[in-house]
Amino acid sequence: MSSHYLSIENVEKTFEKGSVRSHVLSNINLHIDQGEYISIIGHSGCGKSTVLNIVAGLIEQSSGVVILDRKEVNAPGPDRALVFQNHSLLPWLTVYENVALAVNKVAGRSKTSVERHEWVLYNLELVNMLHALHKRPSEISGGMKQRVGIARALAMQPKVLLLDEPFGALDALTRAHLQDEVMRIHSNLKNTVMMITHDVDEAVLLSDRIVMMTNGPSASIGEILSIDLPRPRDRIALADSPRYNHYRQEVLRFLYEKQRKLEHISPKHPPSQARSAQSLPGGGSGSSPSDAAAGVPVLQKVSGAS
Ligand SMILES: Nc1ncnc2c1ncn2[C@@H]1O[C@H](COP(=O)(O)OP(=O)(O)OP(=O)(O)O)[C@@H](O)[C@H]1O
Ligand SMILES: [Mg+2]
Repeated sequence: MSSHYLSIENVEKTFEKGSVRSHVLSNINLHIDQGEYISIIGHSGCGKSTVLNIVAGLIEQSSGVVILDRKEVNAPGPDRALVFQNHSLLPWLTVYENVALAVNKVAGRSKTSVERHEWVLYNLELVNMLHALHKRPSEISGGMKQRVGIARALAMQPKVLLLDEPFGALDALTRAHLQDEVMRIHSNLKNTVMMITHDVDEAVLLSDRIVMMTNGPSASIGEILSIDLPRPRDRIALADSPRYNHYRQEVLRFLYEKQRKLEHISPKHPPSQARSAQSLPGGGSGSSPSDAAAGVPVLQKVSGAS
């Protein structure tokens, strides 16, 4: 058995619907140490969320095993907290109540009610949300909702934090703020994190290693890039760092040269639009105009399978 904290070993996944079989993941092997921050990057539809959902226990792999802290994963559990691109807060509960619900569920017996109350406040303070305790999700911004989602996940004290494009729906400035907060929290708490992203800069800035997936079908891990940049990391200082730019280029080279993906452009799109959508980096259709303006490379988000 592997000595790593989280091990994904020989994982394969084939989805079957009637007589249709799609082999999505092939021979996924990944070993993650405790406290490591791993990003997974790859073109849309290659199978990133499928990998994360297998680790979360929400999807069953066709073969292979996932081992977390020496135990095999085969069902969802509070030791793995998932944060999605679009917050999944309960709209009828306040910010405080959304986090308290999770805390009561995982620590209902191990903590007193006063301790649980303090724990909810502690985690909301980590993400700077104490000012909106009694607001409902409809009364706060998208970035704030993601913060509460992250606080809720952290409050469960998971062994691994699973983030599926957690900042993907946010504008570039809000995203940068949240990335900085996640880096600060990670440096304080030393969480083990697996994060899916389409954003090359985000991957380099936050990660200890970047896992680059090949295109599907039958996607596998193409390359793994170790990011040897000292922490704490400062995005402004790194902009001029040759090493940072080297890592960035390595990821871009993998995605746009080695794993170049040509999309089928629907005839209803005029040719000029089709061309500009492919001329990455700088903002494909998945990036907001502000991303493109800020020069943030974000992978093209394409609906449908590969
Ligand atoms: N329940 C399912 N049944 C059949 N096929 C599925 C199912 N879930 C995912 N797939 C297929 O598996 C492939 C990988 O999907 P997945 O959502 O993991 O991709 P992804 O890399 O996360 O994409 P994106 O970047 O767009 O989120 C896709 O071709 C998708 O259509
Ligand atoms: Mg996905």
